[in-house]
Amino acid sequence: MQTFTLRSGASIPAVGLGTWQLRGGAETVRRALEVGYRLIDTAVDYGTQPAIGKAIRQSGIPREGIYVVTKVEESEDGYEATKDRLRELGLDYADLVLIHRPSPAGAGESIWEGLLEARREGLARDIGVSNYSAEQMEAVTDASGERPVVNQIEWTPFGHSRRMLEYCRERDVLIQAYSPLTRGERLDDVTLREVAQRHGKTPAQVLIRWDTQIGVNPIPKASTPGHLAEDFDVFDFELGRTEVERLSGLNERYSALAGLAYA
Ligand SMILES: NC(=O)c1ccc[n+]([C@@H]2O[C@H](COP(=O)([O-])OP(=O)(O)OC[C@H]3O[C@@H](n4cnc5c(N)ncnc54)[C@H](OP(=O)(O)O)[C@@H]3O)[C@@H](O)[C@H]2O)c1
Repeated sequence: MQTFTLRSGASIPAVGLGTWQLRGGAETVRRALEVGYRLIDTAVDYGTQPAIGKAIRQSGIPREGIYVVTKVEESEDGYEATKDRLRELGLDYADLVLIHRPSPAGAGESIWEGLLEARREGLARDIGVSNYSAEQMEAVTDASGERPVVNQIEWTPFGHSRRMLEYCRERDVLIQAYSPLTRGERLDDVTLREVAQRHGKTPAQVLIRWDTQIGVNPIPKASTPGHLAEDFDVFDFELGRTEVERLSGLNERYSALAGLAYA
């Protein structure tokens, strides 16, 4: 399985499963594990933590073989919230705990301190942020001397930021791409369809491959069994350099959600 290496040295699977509004609960997670997914993203407000924990425990796959990402909310105490997430997951540790979004007042420096404590105690193997701008990442880094290893942000050819990509590459911060399929909104884009057709692949597969080829870690969500299989079947083709550039050129700061908060 293709992986990325985090600044900490840990390996993270190149493609993960998002679980916001996932249908089918533990059964869908079980199917995803069967297909081969080994990275699962969740958060307390997705309501999927109990099902993920259950599916992992019943899978027969050793805990170290599955990479679990969860999040603490910007209003919470980072340390206590991590313990709460683990209770709901029924796990001893999370591979990655993220601050879900920066707090309205500041960059969440005290929550970050809580995550550092959780990591010291082995409750989180790695810690990072989500929906953060470069400036906000600098603020938590300056306050603590410890830089996030991941920034999870909305990221597609239609909406991304070259400046963020360069900032993260220079500092070895992995961008984790959420809503990487535009929540299904832009799958009929003409350029995307043309590239997909050339490779005998689907637009969704091309979006996922574009991420992995530029060093970004996509976490598409799929509840439909066919989608689950399709989104993981992305390692038997490669986009050419011109195709990657052409797709990157589609950038229009598009967001399927509430805007690209980080850019
Ligand atoms: N940190 C944050 O603030 C934040 C915010 C948003 C999302 N996220 C994370 O990122 C994950 C992914 O983002 P998302 O759920 O917003 O959107 P997404 O992954 O871009 O799109 C999900 C939608 O695409 C459909 N789909 C999946 N595979 C497909 C395929 N091969 N062909 C056609 N349609 C396909 C899914 O349908 P079916 O379900 O019917 O298969 C679903 O409707 C979330 O689930 C969550 O884990 C994080």
